Amino acid sequence: MKSPKSPKSPKPSQPSRPDRVTPTPPPVDLREIAAAALARARRRTLALTGCLGDDELTAQHSPLMSPLVWDLAHIGNQEELWLVRRAGGRPALRPELDPLYDAFRHPRADRPALPLLGPDAAREYVGDVRKQTLDVLASADFGADGDPLLAGGFVFGMLAQHEQQHDETMLATHQLRAGPAVLDAPAPPAAGPDAAQLPREVPVPGGPFEMGTSTDPWALDNERPAHVVDVSAFWLDTVPVTNAAYLDFVADGGYADERWWTPEGWRHRQQAELTAPLFWRRDGDTWLRRRFGRIEPVPLDEPVLHVCWYEADAYARWAGRRLPTEAEWEKAARHDPTEGRSRRHPWGDADATPEHANLGQRHLRPAPAGAYPAGAAPCGARQLLGDVWEWTASDFTPYPGFAAFPYREYSEVFFGPEYKVLRGGAFGVDEVVARGTFRNWDLPIRRQIFAGFRTARDAAPGEVG
Ligand code: AVJ
Ligand code: FE
Repeated sequence: MKSPKSPKSPKPSQPSRPDRVTPTPPPVDLREIAAAALARARRRTLALTGCLGDDELTAQHSPLMSPLVWDLAHIGNQEELWLVRRAGGRPALRPELDPLYDAFRHPRADRPALPLLGPDAAREYVGDVRKQTLDVLASADFGADGDPLLAGGFVFGMLAQHEQQHDETMLATHQLRAGPAVLDAPAPPAAGPDAAQLPREVPVPGGPFEMGTSTDPWALDNERPAHVVDVSAFWLDTVPVTNAAYLDFVADGGYADERWWTPEGWRHRQQAELTAPLFWRRDGDTWLRRRFGRIEPVPLDEPVLHVCWYEADAYARWAGRRLPTEAEWEKAARHDPTEGRSRRHPWGDADATPEHANLGQRHLRPAPAGAYPAGAAPCGARQLLGDVWEWTASDFTPYPGFAAFPYREYSEVFFGPEYKVLRGGAFGVDEVVARGTFRNWDLPIRRQIFAGFRTARDAAPGEVG
């Protein structure tokens, strides 16, 4: 699966030399990449909504979530608004739908009572919009001097990412829904042969690195611009915290000991009566979990999933450690000390393959800790992309020089101390979203998202080169 490549920035100091021909890389067909990303998203949307009857599509499976049929038509409505009307300059198809599918007008709990399109009408609507989208795509001018929505095919990438993010939200709705399983997928790969020998933590040397991006054509506004951040030396867990490790915290009374929790975290722990990750249930001496409608023993070697930020933060304090900051996470994932530059992905700039990371909903669970040796970062950390979203210590804040694009409601209205940043992406994240600069955010109480974490600690002076 191809992703758009950043144009190589020309060296400004060198005047152009018409006598020498610089070898140009093979042309990347952005139009084809955009069409493939949109088609991949749509296949997933239709798979997630096609496996349930109309009753289940219109039901609200949890007050935290929209009915699936709302997500479906919202995907089409955003595509109509931004791609067909704004970028394509075409007339509105269904302007009367705009208020129904405006996420800011109706909180999730109110959405079932709206006069929403039914499942068949919603499918027809998203199909009609998509036809227009493909027309716009066929003739759009991707040039850098034209409409910034179209430059580099941005708006197509933005809508493919938007749809994939709602697909992940719909996957979370599937996980919350009661009733027999309707989703299935093969098991992820086993841990690498060296998993038992992996060091518990890896050192990340101190110094500046480039965070964010100014050149990735499909990067969203909150990932921009690239800027240098000086990060002190630290140690990072080689792999995400496993269920086995998390169970030690549970068994040690971590949920009953106020010392490990922040004051807000402790208040929330008590009020929400948290005692274990969401979807876990104790059965005698063993712990069981519900995963997409199936009950199974909690697999000890898998990264822990469905913990909120408060739980992750408390675990880290109990372990004598802390959550990594967002800058630390990105440095560990992207900084290449040999070349002194930031990579697109932990393994390099190459597109993700099934050998690199657990992405794309190919599997319906995280792989065991220590899997995906080919996806390791230069520092040796594994599974930074894929498997589970990773909570960081950081609030969701703008990078220096941030400019909202194309609308304030994508990122800007969420900036501030209310939201915590998650990095890396889970098994249900598509390649069009999974990249070293991508930023996700959520409230610190959220547990239904596919989130786990890893821990860090400061390096002592001179301890790390
Ligand atoms: C970035 C995942 C927090 O789902 O609320 C979807 C993405 N923005 N529609 C969300 C998003 C608008 C967003 N997250
Ligand atoms: Fe949305």
